[in-house]
Amino acid sequence: MDFEFVKIEKHDQIAVLKLNRPDRLNALHGPIMEEIEQASKSFLYDEKTRVVIFAGEGKHFSAGADLKATGGGDSRPTRLLQRRHAGLGARMIRSIVEINQVTIAAVQGAALGGGACIPTACDFRIGSNDCFMGYPEVNLGINLQWVALPLCVHLIGPARAKRMVMLGNREDADTLLNWGYLDEVVERDQLMDKVFEMAEEYARRPPIAVQMIKQSINMISSALDQAIMHMDSDQNTLSAMTEDRTEGIKAFFEKRDAQFKGN
Ligand code: COA
Repeated sequence: MDFEFVKIEKHDQIAVLKLNRPDRLNALHGPIMEEIEQASKSFLYDEKTRVVIFAGEGKHFSAGADLKATGGGDSRPTRLLQRRHAGLGARMIRSIVEINQVTIAAVQGAALGGGACIPTACDFRIGSNDCFMGYPEVNLGINLQWVALPLCVHLIGPARAKRMVMLGNREDADTLLNWGYLDEVVERDQLMDKVFEMAEEYARRPPIAVQMIKQSINMISSALDQAIMHMDSDQNTLSAMTEDRTEGIKAFFEKRDAQFKGN
């Protein structure tokens, strides 16, 4: 399968799925999200791969939604098409959660917004000591969507999730490790070695048992997630129409604090 914005490398039983748009800090626009979904699904009948590592090319894991691609709104001609397109992020995240193999995210630099949602859709997360993660959506006037809110709550509990998602601050590697959001933190130049070390540990286990256990734990912890969060993209479409959303994006590019008025 040929991809433009995603690279898949295979090393025996371990595959690396790399976001490959470094000139845009691996920001997530429609085409890269569709490729991530297709790449995640490509492991379905792959018997050899036992662990899939998610990584990002360049300085940052991912700067999240591509704010230049959207221009702050959705330019599709009808609300009908906007609504269909709004489900793409959830489809992408679900395709990662549903990978049979064990998944590990290798996080360096920034992993913000959708760039944080991808690691939380993986089974494990190892960060470099200079990584930082967070959900800036609120400061752009929008909700966190892509059915990613419960993934955050499951990892760190409601109080810390509220702090992360309602304030939209960046949290550093030590805090994320302390909260259990990251499983391990290592020096940046050791990141991939550490991730491979963890991957090899899982690859040595019997894959049928490991994959059934993974699926069962996912089902136990997420049984209600889809039912509760199925309208988060509709909420996003609504919040994306507000003046606060326009102001949030404008303030980001003008490098100033946004003034939100509740409109
Ligand atoms: N979408 C589109 N362009 C983005 C972007 C995004 N999400 N994040 C950064 N960029 C652009 C910047 O505007 C800048 O463009 P320019 O060179 O034309 O001025 C370029 O990428 C480099 O960004 P810069 O902020 O200088 O890089 P940095 O290494 O200092 O910081 C980040 C990187 C990711 C921490 C910072 O850019 C950031 O906070 N980005 C916004 C994250 C965000 O809010 N994402 C949306 C989530 S819903």
